[in-house]
Amino acid sequence: MNTSIPSDLIDQIRAQSDIVEVIGEHGVHLKSAGKDFKGLCPFHDEKTPSFTASRGRQMFYCFGCQAGGNVISFVQRLEGKSFVETIEYLAERSGIALPTPDAKAHQAQQKRRKLQDLNQLAIDFFRQNLMTPGIGGRTLVYLKQRGISERTIEDFQLGFVPAGQRQLIQFAQKKGFSVQQLIDVGLAKEDRRGTTDRFRNRVIFPIFDERNRPVAFGGRGTTDDIRPKYLNSANTIIYDKSKTLYNLQNARKEIHQTGVAILVEGYFDAITLYQAGLHNVVASLGTAFSESHARLLNRFADQVIIIYDGDVAGLRAATRGLNTLVKVGLQVKVALLPEGDDPDEFVKTHGVKAFQSYLDKSLNLIEFQIQLAVEQGAIQRIDVKSKAVKEIAATLASLDSPVELNAYVNQVAGELDLDRAVVYQELVRLGVKPTVEEKSTSKRLAPVRHQVSARESIEWQLLESLILNPSLIPKAKDKFNIQDLHNKTYAKVGQLLYESEPVEIGELVNHCDESSKAIISQALMTDKVPPNLEARMMGCIKRLNQFLLLDFEKQMRSSALAEGKDNTATLVELVELSNRRRLVEKNVR
Ligand code: CTP
Ligand code: MN
Repeated sequence: MNTSIPSDLIDQIRAQSDIVEVIGEHGVHLKSAGKDFKGLCPFHDEKTPSFTASRGRQMFYCFGCQAGGNVISFVQRLEGKSFVETIEYLAERSGIALPTPDAKAHQAQQKRRKLQDLNQLAIDFFRQNLMTPGIGGRTLVYLKQRGISERTIEDFQLGFVPAGQRQLIQFAQKKGFSVQQLIDVGLAKEDRRGTTDRFRNRVIFPIFDERNRPVAFGGRGTTDDIRPKYLNSANTIIYDKSKTLYNLQNARKEIHQTGVAILVEGYFDAITLYQAGLHNVVASLGTAFSESHARLLNRFADQVIIIYDGDVAGLRAATRGLNTLVKVGLQVKVALLPEGDDPDEFVKTHGVKAFQSYLDKSLNLIEFQIQLAVEQGAIQRIDVKSKAVKEIAATLASLDSPVELNAYVNQVAGELDLDRAVVYQELVRLGVKPTVEEKSTSKRLAPVRHQVSARESIEWQLLESLILNPSLIPKAKDKFNIQDLHNKTYAKVGQLLYESEPVEIGELVNHCDESSKAIISQALMTDKVPPNLEARMMGCIKRLNQFLLLDFEKQMRSSALAEGKDNTATLVELVELSNRRRLVEKNVR
């Protein structure tokens, strides 16, 4: 999180952003229902409204999918914006100015802005060249021959830089930029001949970051004999290859809406697919797909379809990307095109319909790995099979969701004709715990309904009391160790309450994870606030302590049994324990 925005300013922005208004502005039709508002949830499909917003508490909560939070989390989640982007958006919406933090940071920011301005100037220069017949005429023909429309040239702000040593340098200098700035941004380089333009006689592809700021360039030779075929900007203070995906600025909206991102390799692949109407496409530009790339995509997507060439190199590249994506919790599918075809050529020869059918036939993680195994040898052979299971298990081990893991294990066992236990054994060997707490990684949470034990319901009541009246927290701290809650999510939220002792709960929501947000909003959305929260809290604590004593008793008994201890000391302790438990029980009634 950006610490340069002071927290009291964040509070002010939040106070000025009425949640009911903001939700309304984002297309959710809210109807007043008692003191709250209800509408159809934008985070999952539903026919009857279970999405609730409260003006009084400035919170939202969906009883269907358990999404919840404050106005900031609402915008973040709906728009796929980062915390800082959301704050900037809400600040602008209510006309609040954000300060720049300190002189040094301000200076660095100014420097970055200047370099972006320089890049924008270069983009304009390159585009002007492309559109001047005497200069960019042949390149324009080249682009047309490759099937690129004028509209697409506009959408991607493609350009052309003529041959010449210092064309851009001279142009930029006239506009007040220095040679040093051109070097800093990677548009000029120094060599034997002095300072020269880095890109010469190339089609230019500007590269933007996800917030649509021009950060770098790629240039392709206008004929196939020019080497290297592509020339790209090196990393600069405004460009980090491992954190940038080509076309994300155009694709992010569609990716966020559909939850699906199509991942390709090259500039033309992304451009052609986008032009054909597949707007959710991004390109990795031939660089190694990094974990930062995966995290960036994870902000917008639930699922990524990787499309690579169906040859060995493509397969290998796909496998590498696959594990990185799985690791951050994205669902991954792989579409393999016929050998030798890239998406750009494929769409041009067979059309977008045929391409779509390849997308539809994309393989999930396990099918892909199995196909890979099959391609590598006779899968019936025991040694090949066992090698395949090992490789697949390595991929599965990075899965976060036990539900998904389980489904995949079933599939592997089925497809490779193996016992599930064999697959699990391999997973356990890799350190996967066989019974992991259920945890969903999907941003579109499915409605969860599960049976709650008596104990868990008491734990919930305790938490709810603390959330509804945070001034009770110090007293609770005194009487109950929150880590003793059995439900681990409750324990986590409890810990958060204990640590921060918030005066106002809404503020806490800015700093916690999704499951905690859901619990806090659910508690705040309760229809009737119970009358005496303190008495209720104390009741819960007593009952929970009683459960704990019982746990302890059981544990003592079983370890005494296991160690064959039946000495008097243990016996006395056990009697003492059950007396204490009964005393607590009596007090509660
Ligand atoms: N690439 C690069 N430098 C190279 C070759 C490739 O940076 N010398 C990157 C480019 O981003 C390119 C991607 O890797 O778009 C895929 O490379 P390749 O398949 O060779 O090129 P295509 O995208 O198919 O390019 P074209 O269709 O123009 O031949
Ligand atoms: Mn190509």
